Amino acid sequence: MTTSAKSNLRSPKSKRHIRPVHIVGTGSYVPDRILTNADLEKMVDTTDEWITTRSGIKERRIAPDWMCTSDMAVEAARRAMQQAGVHENEIDLIICGTVTPDMPFPNTACFIQHKLGARHVPAFDIEAACSGFIYGLEIGQQFIASGAYETVLVIGAEKLSTIVDWQDRSTCVLFGDGAGAAVLRSRSEEHGILATCMGANGSQTDILSLPGGGAKFPASKETVSARMHVIKMEGKEVFKNAVIAMQTAAEEALKKCNLTMADIKCVIPHQANLRIIDALASRLGAPEEKVYINLHRYGNVSAASVAIALDEAAREGRFQRGDLILLVVFGAGLTWASCVIQW
Ligand code: UT7
Repeated sequence: MTTSAKSNLRSPKSKRHIRPVHIVGTGSYVPDRILTNADLEKMVDTTDEWITTRSGIKERRIAPDWMCTSDMAVEAARRAMQQAGVHENEIDLIICGTVTPDMPFPNTACFIQHKLGARHVPAFDIEAACSGFIYGLEIGQQFIASGAYETVLVIGAEKLSTIVDWQDRSTCVLFGDGAGAAVLRSRSEEHGILATCMGANGSQTDILSLPGGGAKFPASKETVSARMHVIKMEGKEVFKNAVIAMQTAAEEALKKCNLTMADIKCVIPHQANLRIIDALASRLGAPEEKVYINLHRYGNVSAASVAIALDEAAREGRFQRGDLILLVVFGAGLTWASCVIQW
């Protein structure tokens, strides 16, 4: 390779144009069926009182058998696209965060692309557990900022009811089904997604996992009878890690933008446990009225949680154009992520 060719290889980086990236539409979808704490009292040895005081959850949504993760994702995506005024032909990239894909492969984003009637644009899933939606936002954001794509659809969608152990009272009371979506585009105003932080710690893969069905423990009669195809969680360990990781991620994102909590209009945390959210809010110095909570209605919907909460908070008018908001999530992996957006 000649010297000039070598130097050309480096030039695209310097020519990259960084464009502001905005969330121009959000949407969400939850199935109609409500499973209440009272319903769970009839299924496992639990009480409404225990679930409410330990988690803050009162009810969750359960999708019917025929409904796949991609079906919920498409509903959420259509609502986001409608709000954004974006036609399916304009989507350049589809990213879906999920731990409950329709199938191990093809990826769920391909099913979504087809069901939406979108063009044959790239479509892939992000498996970062509950952090999948913000990981997706960051990836989509980078593609638009660089000028590679104009319009990116980012979705968090889960049918967790299919991987919950309905015999394990310590986990089955926590999770639900649903989907949230965002359409990303560049707009001329300078604000938009201001900073994103992502992280992972692979030394604690065992505290929250679904061990069976992958290359390590392929599906067999033994893995089924050992109940390896359902969620396993060491709740207390996850709890401790969640608070610390989300605090660190939130502070890092604020620091990147030279902002403090006083500048933030609305904090939208991962909706796993009210006690986690309260501990996080207190460490961040975020007053109750700034923190958006909907987990009492939906439980933990993993990658969809923050996406649904963002959509609901926006539609409820919890923040207006120009306001600063902070998203922060944590999940299996361990993974975590945060994002500061000027709406
Ligand atoms: O999205 C990824 C992030 N996931 C999370 O953030 C989840 C993090 N963890 C948590 O939210 C909490 O740890 C839980 C809600 C899962 C559990 O709360 P905890 O305060 O950590 O309770 P524990 O697991 O220590 O259990 C306390 C007691 C135990 O009984 P003993 O051993 O003290 O007699 C459990 O067997 O509560 C019992 N228990 C229940 N009792 C009634 C556990 N689950 C239930 C239940 N109903 N559903």
